[in-house]
Amino acid sequence: MIEFNETNKIFYLSGKSFSYLIWIDPNGYLVNLHYGGRIESDDLTYFDMRTRPISFSPIPPDADHWFTLDIAGQEYGSYGQGDFRTPSVILCREDGDASSRFHYERHVIYDGAPALEGMPHCRKGGQTLALVLRDVLSGAKITLNYTVYEQFGILVRNAEIECGAQPVCLKRAHSFCADLPEGEYEAVCLHGRHCAERTPERVPLGHGTYTVSSTRGASSHQMNPFLALAERGCTETHGSVFAALLIYSGSYELSAEKSQTGGVRLCGGIQSLNFSKKMAPGEKFVTPQVALCHSDGGFGALSRAYHDFIRETILPPALAYARRPIVINNWEATYFQFDNEKLCKLADEAAELGVDTLVLDDGWFGKRNDDTSGLGDWFVNEDKLQGGLSAVIEHCKRLGLKFGLWFEPEMISEDSDLYRAHPDWAIGKADVPRCTGRNQLVLDMTRPEIVDGVFEQVSNILSTYAISYVKWDMNRHISEFYSAKLPADQQGEFSHRYILGVYALAERLQRAFPNVFFEGCSGGGGRFDAGMLYYFPQFWTSDDTDAYERAKIQWGTSYAYPLSAMSCHVSVCPNHQTGRTTPFETRGAIASLGAFGYELSPAALSEKERELVKQQIKAYRELEPLLQRGDLFRISNPFESNLFCVAVVSKDKKEAYAVGMQIHAVPADTDHRLRLAGLEEGALYEIAELGLKLHGSTLMHAGVLKPNLPDFGSFVWHLKAIG
Ligand code: GLA
Repeated sequence: MIEFNETNKIFYLSGKSFSYLIWIDPNGYLVNLHYGGRIESDDLTYFDMRTRPISFSPIPPDADHWFTLDIAGQEYGSYGQGDFRTPSVILCREDGDASSRFHYERHVIYDGAPALEGMPHCRKGGQTLALVLRDVLSGAKITLNYTVYEQFGILVRNAEIECGAQPVCLKRAHSFCADLPEGEYEAVCLHGRHCAERTPERVPLGHGTYTVSSTRGASSHQMNPFLALAERGCTETHGSVFAALLIYSGSYELSAEKSQTGGVRLCGGIQSLNFSKKMAPGEKFVTPQVALCHSDGGFGALSRAYHDFIRETILPPALAYARRPIVINNWEATYFQFDNEKLCKLADEAAELGVDTLVLDDGWFGKRNDDTSGLGDWFVNEDKLQGGLSAVIEHCKRLGLKFGLWFEPEMISEDSDLYRAHPDWAIGKADVPRCTGRNQLVLDMTRPEIVDGVFEQVSNILSTYAISYVKWDMNRHISEFYSAKLPADQQGEFSHRYILGVYALAERLQRAFPNVFFEGCSGGGGRFDAGMLYYFPQFWTSDDTDAYERAKIQWGTSYAYPLSAMSCHVSVCPNHQTGRTTPFETRGAIASLGAFGYELSPAALSEKERELVKQQIKAYRELEPLLQRGDLFRISNPFESNLFCVAVVSKDKKEAYAVGMQIHAVPADTDHRLRLAGLEEGALYEIAELGLKLHGSTLMHAGVLKPNLPDFGSFVWHLKAIG
């Protein structure tokens, strides 16, 4: 709900779990009066600090009394007028002056959300406040959009910056700035690396600035574009927590700056390090969106709010709750060593087990037999696949299997026909040796003719063959931020333009092939973000398929992203990434907490395991609606205890699915009580696996006995309300 009180000049924005109050002060400055738990529409102008002097704080020439930007809660931080905290925007004029002073000009409130052209954004719903500010020093107009999703407790923000009468160089363009009240906060980030993405890390927030960011041209494995600020002591179920989640996939920054008063500025957007944009009078720049969330119910409620929000407003609507393909992917089964015969055999075995799609991974194109060549040559490697791709696809068709294909559209190998024809298509300078990553260079996606070229090649394959599924990979980060075609004074836009090129290609391919299911991937989960999820309803969560490592990765990923966005496959043991052996049942149980599939050759499985595959697939199909729509409860933390346990509870609380994995066997231990969560207190549930009928209150407050299990032993419980 958004209201404006004409008398006290306060905007009241409120959702399920928050209120956000903005005041137009008597001098025309916008002052934040409250962001936090939901409150009544009281008059909070008593927070005006005009009567309380503060030393060493400049007072703007048009402000009265003691008003200073140094401590006032701001909606968009300015530079050079006494706000010494992180600025949101820097508008540098031709004479080098970069000061800005923002005054409220006007506002509109409307139903719906702004649509961002060429960038992922919330697709529907919400109510929006557009606040127009004028920078009285540069003349720029800044529109701050606030879209309230009342039902999720989420506030989506972004900024539109329009150059005034004098040209400027935009040196920073953040999406938002939210000045949070004083408090003892702890910052939570999701850091990681290849094969170990999104590990939650929690540290006390001291004075100074805490930053999470990526300068890699992708949101990255190393640091996800998510930052939470929790009050000290906040748990899964209790306490106040704020978070910012960028709907963006390129280089970014999010920071939390604790100031002299103890208040915290949470802000961020596009990474400033490799960003600048020259703007001519009237030119406009639109920043990506950020989804802010405040929860009073700890991290669990925060995550559930993001899950609902992403499922309802970000994922492609036709696919968000659709039956997902259960694939068998040949990567770990064959790597680059395959031919038609091997693939047809794999298809035979897959079909027998009930899998519905065979996905042919890397190595089917160009002259690619290892990772040194072929990227960019999106035509079939007929030497390897004798009889062409049609032979395998026809074979699959006869078996009732659909067929999927891997692409890495943004990349180019130096050993490729494409590179020989267009060495200047790679990022960097063709005459200056460039950094390689996995032996490859990156295509310059800022150039429309390159996007067109890739589109043509990929669409040629997709229209020639019966392909129902595409795995879109991206296996290196950007080093040289330079395009051969951009003028010198536009090179600062390179990084942002790159990701806009990726978005444009994804959008075009999806429009052209509406029946093809696209899965995202970036060396596992290297670009797992809300921006990519706008195009791809699921993303390969990590190249690490070890059940124990995956349980941790999926736990961290679930802080912001719903289970249905996480692509999760069962693979063979010893696991290819860790060498660890875990029970087949456990691998199935952990993979069932996502978009399910297999990454193996069924021939490598025992008869018993193949039977288990059939059961897993059947069980998954039954559970799928619950997993896609239900509420996730994280019950036992694998980073802090010997047990991983989560439960998904249907919205009507009539059904639940709990999965647990004991990490290490404990000798001579007894069974312990495990308390479930999220159930209906008064409902009676049957847990068939345990032969128990107990009320929700009993299961949540008294608990059930969790058996003492061997290393990586697991349990799976289905709860059905029976009264
Ligand atoms: C990346 C992906 C893998 C696989 C390989 C192929 O690492 O994450 O799943 O597709 O590339 O080269």
